[in-house]
Amino acid sequence: MTVSAILTSCNTKHASLPAVIPLPVKMEAESGTFILKPSALISYTGGTEAAPVAEQLAGLLRPATGFALKTSEGTGGNIRLLIDTSGVWKTEEYRLSVTKKKVTLTSATPEGLFRGIQTIRQLLPPQSEAGRRISDVKWTMPCVSVTDYPRFEWRGMHLDVSRHFFDVDFIKRYIDILAMHKLNIFHWHLVDDQGWRIEIKKYPGLTEVGAWRVDREDQAWNSREPQQLGEKATYGGFYTQEEIKEIIAYAAEKYITIVPEIEMPAHVGSALAAYPEYSCTGGPFTVPPGGVWPITDIYCAGKDETFAFLEDVLTEVIELFPSQYIHIGGDEADKTDWRRCPDCQARIRNEGLGDEDELQSYFVKRIEQFLKSKGRRLIGWDEILQGGLAPEATVMSWQGFEGGTAAAKSGHHAVMTPVSHCYFNIYQGDPATEPISFRGLITLEKVYSFEPVPAELTPEEGKFIIGAQGCLWTEYVTDGKTAEYMILPRLTALSEVVWTAPEMRSWEGFSTRLPGMMVRFDAMGLEHYTP
Ligand code: ACM
Ligand code: ZN
Repeated sequence: MTVSAILTSCNTKHASLPAVIPLPVKMEAESGTFILKPSALISYTGGTEAAPVAEQLAGLLRPATGFALKTSEGTGGNIRLLIDTSGVWKTEEYRLSVTKKKVTLTSATPEGLFRGIQTIRQLLPPQSEAGRRISDVKWTMPCVSVTDYPRFEWRGMHLDVSRHFFDVDFIKRYIDILAMHKLNIFHWHLVDDQGWRIEIKKYPGLTEVGAWRVDREDQAWNSREPQQLGEKATYGGFYTQEEIKEIIAYAAEKYITIVPEIEMPAHVGSALAAYPEYSCTGGPFTVPPGGVWPITDIYCAGKDETFAFLEDVLTEVIELFPSQYIHIGGDEADKTDWRRCPDCQARIRNEGLGDEDELQSYFVKRIEQFLKSKGRRLIGWDEILQGGLAPEATVMSWQGFEGGTAAAKSGHHAVMTPVSHCYFNIYQGDPATEPISFRGLITLEKVYSFEPVPAELTPEEGKFIIGAQGCLWTEYVTDGKTAEYMILPRLTALSEVVWTAPEMRSWEGFSTRLPGMMVRFDAMGLEHYTP
């Protein structure tokens, strides 16, 4: 902390403000504290939609406080959640007033109430998160007045469940972590070379074959020998459609949309191991147990059967996921096979395409048409710009800021997740003492310095940047505890980037608020890096 920052925090009201992350738009400290009593009642208006939100608040507080904490419809409680649709509200806006007598949380929507509850949590002692009875704590909140709403509509976090599989309980815990940071998108990377993780009823081979690989977990990721003849593939896992529905419902209670990613045309070795007929060569293929580069085993863009297969898969995905956006991957396709394939070359000729990049563009446009016919929107990694962007596609800009910038300049929406700031699979500290990670260094401060809207965009163009997200690729992340460690507290920094207006953000301010959050992680039993 700089001297000037210390002086600032001592000389202004900031010193007495509670440590809330992401920093609210407006927060004023009042004198006194609210004391939560065993007899406290949580009342709510807004009926059936608001009731589960009130119940979630009670459910959060009951274990540690040991209080019965009833909920009931009305306005008579000591903690009141009010739906108020009069006047003008921003999306997800909430207003919170904590006085000595009452806590009043107001929003136009239950979603806004839910975001406000995440602020209430941070006003309470961290032990309130313990999930078990804590007897020696006084459950108080400082009196404050808060008006708050997010900067971006896409506040996301990604998880790769292909390189390593994470069970249903961990996915829910991950969603909890996103929710407490007021994120609203979980980008679920369900397909990659090393494992297909979503049950598709019409193509059982995708999970019977594609979800399993030979176990080479004792060897370095990039030097694992492919499956040999006669070897059994025993390592992996997948989510049944019932489990997926359960997770979607869980996320919906937390006002988090799950955007499923079904990779194409590359990163599909797992699918081709089961259905080699959708490749150019016909295979055979096995599910790779480790790193593959370049990504040459890709879907054939010449065969109509490939598109019929993908439309069948996407139909089941769409039936499961209510998300407006469906992520179709699109990254890192090596087009060597397309250059050699008679079907792909015939497609290029018949469609009047210039080259293989335009063939990829044809592929993505055709899938976009299909998604559109089902009322959905396509999002893909920035390689979907190659050969020309599909008319209504949204670009997820990962290689840098350029893809998102180009998309915005051409009137397309973009989500920023540049590898330089948002890839939480890269080292966050000294490789000598950190768990093995991707090369490079993305410190907490680097994440905090991230500005999703490039300066070169005009204000009008800037509106096409709908938000940003963090990514966690799991080549080296073998279990949930390591996943927590890699995202915390970098996700905490990112949450402020995507929620709080840039002019209000300061690294010094964030640094003074962060320790409180880390104590909270400890109380919750979450692993985290300590900067
Ligand atoms: C990516 O990291 N290949 C999207
Ligand atoms: Zn082909």
